Amino acid sequence: MIRKCLFPVAGYGTRFLPATKSMPKEMLPVVNKPLVQYGVEEAVAAGLDNVTFVTGRGKRAIADHFDISYELEHQIAGTAKEEYLEGIRSLIDNVNFSFTRQHNMLGLGHAILTGEPLIGDEAFGVVLADDLCIGEDGVSVMEQMAKLYKQFRCSIVAIQEVPEDEVHKYGVIAGDSMMEGLFRVTDMVEKPKKEDAPSNLAIIGRYILTPDIFDKIRETPPGANGEVQITDAILRQAKEGCVLAYKFKGRRFDCGSVEGFVDATNYCFEHFYKQSK
Ligand code: G1P
Repeated sequence: MIRKCLFPVAGYGTRFLPATKSMPKEMLPVVNKPLVQYGVEEAVAAGLDNVTFVTGRGKRAIADHFDISYELEHQIAGTAKEEYLEGIRSLIDNVNFSFTRQHNMLGLGHAILTGEPLIGDEAFGVVLADDLCIGEDGVSVMEQMAKLYKQFRCSIVAIQEVPEDEVHKYGVIAGDSMMEGLFRVTDMVEKPKKEDAPSNLAIIGRYILTPDIFDKIRETPPGANGEVQITDAILRQAKEGCVLAYKFKGRRFDCGSVEGFVDATNYCFEHFYKQSK
């Protein structure tokens, strides 16, 4: 059983300036809920109710969001507005949140390594909140991956086919097909040029990692963009053992880009917000 989920949330969100000048990008609302809350709900739906944030400077709003606001609750107690807080209250009551800080932005691999003391020696999920994922038939993407983990007991990355001229934005895998939608990883390249990409199967921000990943990250020198890349560390696992790449069932919105964010907003407005009225 996987119990823990790590959220690296120290990044700056420069693509959303000026909105993210003094506000964490993870707190941008998709309709009426911050991006990060969608991610936490997804993890919890998969049974991962220990949530660890690797935060950085200027990210306190995230910790405050997942805490009680006594003044606000006192103000709206007994009014119809109480229902707006039901979802977040239930997360606060049922999830164990922990926080640690990444002091220097040295890459996603480094961010994940920073979470090691709070994860310990067990397999864990990683959610990049920028990628908003809606699982098919109400089964969250992390839940689909946790099921696979039970069967295969190794690290798993979520993948999606992307157009060839977008591969440079992602970690890209090569793999041997094991069954429909599942590959055994043979290669992985972070942010390859179109001509160097081993396929058009891009990693999206959902991972399940076995705890030997921490040693692998320690052994990994800085790679693309001069950063310690999780992709490079996972490739080390794949070379020594087994790593799976899973074509998840559902939709994913790249909320790190303005276009993806607007698409997510329109989708969530139609499918969730309107339905709830
Ligand atoms: C990160 C990962 C990359 C992955 C992407 C998914 O990149 O390094 O392998 O494909 O997330 O969103 P970033 O978007 O942080 O540059």
